[in-house]
Amino acid sequence: MAYSKDKPYNDLPLLPPDNSVFERVSIYKKLAQARAALAELKGRLPIIPNPYMLINTLVLQEAKDSSEIENIFTTADELYRAFTSNRKNIDPATKEVISYRDALWEAFKKQKELSSWNLEWIVEIFRTVTERDESLRSMQLYIGNTYNTVYTPPEPGDILTEKIDNWLDFEDTLDKIDPLLKMALLHYQFEAIHPFSDGNGRTGRILNVIYLTSQSLLELPVLYISKHILEYKTEYYRLLTEVTETGEWEGWILFMLEAVYQTSIFTLGKVNAIYDLFNRITNIVKEQAEEIYSREFIEIIFSEPYSKVKMLVDNKIASRNTASKYLNRLSDLGILEPIQVGNENLFLNKDLYEILAQS
Ligand SMILES: Nc1ncnc2c1ncn2[C@@H]1O[C@H](COP(=O)(O)OP(=O)(O)OP(=O)(O)O)[C@@H](O)[C@H]1O
Ligand SMILES: [Mg+2]
Repeated sequence: MAYSKDKPYNDLPLLPPDNSVFERVSIYKKLAQARAALAELKGRLPIIPNPYMLINTLVLQEAKDSSEIENIFTTADELYRAFTSNRKNIDPATKEVISYRDALWEAFKKQKELSSWNLEWIVEIFRTVTERDESLRSMQLYIGNTYNTVYTPPEPGDILTEKIDNWLDFEDTLDKIDPLLKMALLHYQFEAIHPFSDGNGRTGRILNVIYLTSQSLLELPVLYISKHILEYKTEYYRLLTEVTETGEWEGWILFMLEAVYQTSIFTLGKVNAIYDLFNRITNIVKEQAEEIYSREFIEIIFSEPYSKVKMLVDNKIASRNTASKYLNRLSDLGILEPIQVGNENLFLNKDLYEILAQS
């Protein structure tokens, strides 16, 4: 039966695609470029004293960008405040971003314990992202708007299950396909299957970066692939559709490789900038406020753009009273900026915030 965008795409071909697209020179060239940039990023990450400080902040940005794809407007500023202050009474958009971050973190941690990817794990990511207590969708979905369907994913039930089982098998199969190409194939297929009632985009983008960590191309999920997808959203949708309608993978694969290349370079820039700033602030504190200096303390003020007394107390840097003096001392030195949010006293690491907020 001919393909129709209004009918469930039950004939969505199983993976891997049966063609020689991987052998094209265009793909090899872009692949080499992307692999090199990613390898450089991977190699550079350990220079950060506390890699988790990086993930905590970079993931925020990733979360912000991803949710903007759904046109949710959340400024970086609101977001950072929400992360460091009381979670009650936060607006739905911010909540969505926090769910994204939690899902990414959980997915990353759990992945390390899995012998192979499985459906329960994917469902858990979906549930955390959407806060919906569902599993694979049981309804037919139509992608597009009320007047115009652009794509109709496979019907629920056995067909959907078959597609997702094949997806999992393909992910788990040792083959000669480069992991970056495999990520591109997996991402298209995941979106084409559209396994859930919502959150397929977010879940799929989390899986992209987790796939890279699972293949040891990165130690931590710090790549902003979503950033590129967000910037070139129209192109991204067009190329997804091109694979569906023509079976031509080249444009899609090149797009995903370019996304890895660009975001690797972008992230590398942030890593280097944070590293330089960390050293610069360390030196200032050592020289001008030696009595409060400890590496652990500096790490705390780099773990989130906003610090507060409780963070120092919880990490056993200082008692309540002393912690407050420490933070005020850094404010006097112009490193932190005290801000009152509700009844909380936060201290903004201005330069770190600048680095993180830049896109
Ligand atoms: N024509 C299409 N064919 C296949 N997949 C598509 C098509 N158009 C959009 N998609 C995918 O569907 C995703 C949106 O699905 P859904 O609303 O379930 O996810 P989301 O996480 O809520 O949204 P978003 O990706 O916008 O953040 C897009 O991100 C894209 O990956
Ligand atoms: Mg949605």
